[in-house]
Amino acid sequence: MRTPLIAGNWKMHNTEAEAISLVRVLMQRIRFFSGVEVLICPPFTSLSQLHKLLVSSPILLGAQNISEQSSGAYTGEISGRMAAEFCSHVILGHSERRAYFGEDDALINQKVRAAQKAGLIPVLCVGESLAERDAGSAAEVIRCQLRGALAGIQLSAPSDLVVAYEPVWAIGTGRSALPEDITKVISSVIRPGLAAKWGEKLAEGIRILYGGSVNPGNAGGYLSQPEIDGALVGGASLSAEKFLAIIERTQ
Ligand code: PGA
Repeated sequence: MRTPLIAGNWKMHNTEAEAISLVRVLMQRIRFFSGVEVLICPPFTSLSQLHKLLVSSPILLGAQNISEQSSGAYTGEISGRMAAEFCSHVILGHSERRAYFGEDDALINQKVRAAQKAGLIPVLCVGESLAERDAGSAAEVIRCQLRGALAGIQLSAPSDLVVAYEPVWAIGTGRSALPEDITKVISSVIRPGLAAKWGEKLAEGIRILYGGSVNPGNAGGYLSQPEIDGALVGGASLSAEKFLAIIERTQ
């Protein structure tokens, strides 16, 4: 059985002080939930303090990005090893990194390798744009992203990778996808793609999340689908109340 995972992607929000007060509220309430893993991905600047704060909490910490390089003269970059001092996971291939920072599948593949080398679990994001969806090429786009990002990657356990299906047109737009459509993409494209690579048994255990305008109102619809193993939450993860309400929908 796959344990649901609710992950919060804070993006470029919250100073360290703001991060601490948000996490304090989460910590108090998260003890009342069971059978769900909770991951938050704050900006790098808060990781060290939050790591100290969360030492005896089940809340997991993730980074939003790492460099594909392991160390060296790369001004402004953070290596996997640095992130792994504080984090268990790292978001890779997010559509904002692809769109604004020119990350392509080849680079994302290098970052997946860097994450594995550092002992971080990649939360690999894939998803089609609106134009690609309208052109009927969503499935091919997703297949291609998976093939590119995971080329040559070995996986020893299903828990060593998380995939997030995030249709680009649903991110930060308030326009969420239908739960049945997400299920269809996961069961006909993503999981078979993983099975073709690593075999059905391993693929069956890999968690596949949905992301894109998830909120307390629509979360139940996604999380009740057996093929959707959790959510990658952007905007709504910045509010303790909303994020907790989404976690509650897994109960
Ligand atoms: P959103 O972001 O929930 O604000 O749409 C999701 C994401 O970017 O992962």
